[in-house]
Amino acid sequence: MSFNLEEIIRPNIRDLIPYSSARDEFHGQANIYLDANENSLGSPLMKWYNRYPDPHQSKLKDKLSSIKAVSADKIFIGNGSDECIDILFRCFCEPGLDNVIVCPPTYGMYSVSAAINNVAVKNVNLTANFQLDLAAIEEAIDEHTKMIFLCSPNNPSGNSLIREDVEMILNNYFGLVVIDEAYINFSPHRSFIHELADYPNLVILQTLSKAWGLAALRLGLAFADEKIIRVMNKVKPPYNINQATQDLVLKALDEVQQVNDMIVELVKERESLTEKLKDLPFVEKIYPSDANFLLVKVIDADGIYQFLLEKGIVVRNRSKVTHCEGCLRITVGTKSENELLVDALKHFTKS
Ligand SMILES: Cc1ncc(COP(=O)(O)O)c(C=O)c1O
Repeated sequence: MSFNLEEIIRPNIRDLIPYSSARDEFHGQANIYLDANENSLGSPLMKWYNRYPDPHQSKLKDKLSSIKAVSADKIFIGNGSDECIDILFRCFCEPGLDNVIVCPPTYGMYSVSAAINNVAVKNVNLTANFQLDLAAIEEAIDEHTKMIFLCSPNNPSGNSLIREDVEMILNNYFGLVVIDEAYINFSPHRSFIHELADYPNLVILQTLSKAWGLAALRLGLAFADEKIIRVMNKVKPPYNINQATQDLVLKALDEVQQVNDMIVELVKERESLTEKLKDLPFVEKIYPSDANFLLVKVIDADGIYQFLLEKGIVVRNRSKVTHCEGCLRITVGTKSENELLVDALKHFTKS
């Protein structure tokens, strides 16, 4: 057996004639644009937002291509990674028939997106140390398993998956392997983006919401073989990335060095916060993190969560999540936010 894209794509999507926009049908520069029913007078807010944005985001892709060293035709841009996830379901999973494998505890949107698309989820829990249970994954795969979602570094545990385990799946499973690398920039481990040429069934998700600090702009990325990207492009809404986002991200992408400096600072803060939290009497364990957050096991998660809320500090209570019993997930903040957090925690006493 081997990976065959034609076999895993939904028949209605294979046959789909995608929407053809005015911007698809005319290429080049014109003096007067009367082809897209835009408001030619402009907007009272900002004159230049009256035109539809580039549906192919060509400038953005060219720039991303040089930063990521991946050719532009292997890049899909979504309205956040969440849109990339949803589009993968719509391209490859037949509602009511197909299924996907998700490995909890992990990012919640894989299952939510599956449910929205009426696609069954086979949950194969990570092991107690948050690694893949390869035997259980192998057992769960059936003829309708279209995708396996892997998150590395994983949310909420923060650890990276063992590379050889991921490779084992890539080499032996012939549906799509979706590796969500939302937090990869905070990790010392190599991205799988360099392995795209070896695996025609590999999809990598990244986002500008984390290391790039642009969560509000909603820009997610999928990297994959150009044949997969072509299918995703057929299904996406024509103008899924708005003009303001395209403009601002294009500018932001010039600041690679500043982003790298920010990553160094956040990783340093992560380590320093770990050291400070370790000393608190009610902290039982801090899981090693390759991300910009810490999973912290405490003696009274609900009590500490509530106590922090009263001080105006909000963390994520993950204590009801598989393998995360008694855990809070704490995003690494600025130096002063982290100091305020630790100062507040020093005053916590169990009632
Ligand atoms: C693993 C993971 N993937 C994706 C996302 C969402 O990314 P985006 O903001 O690009 O939709 C998150 C957000 O927390 C996440 O933890």
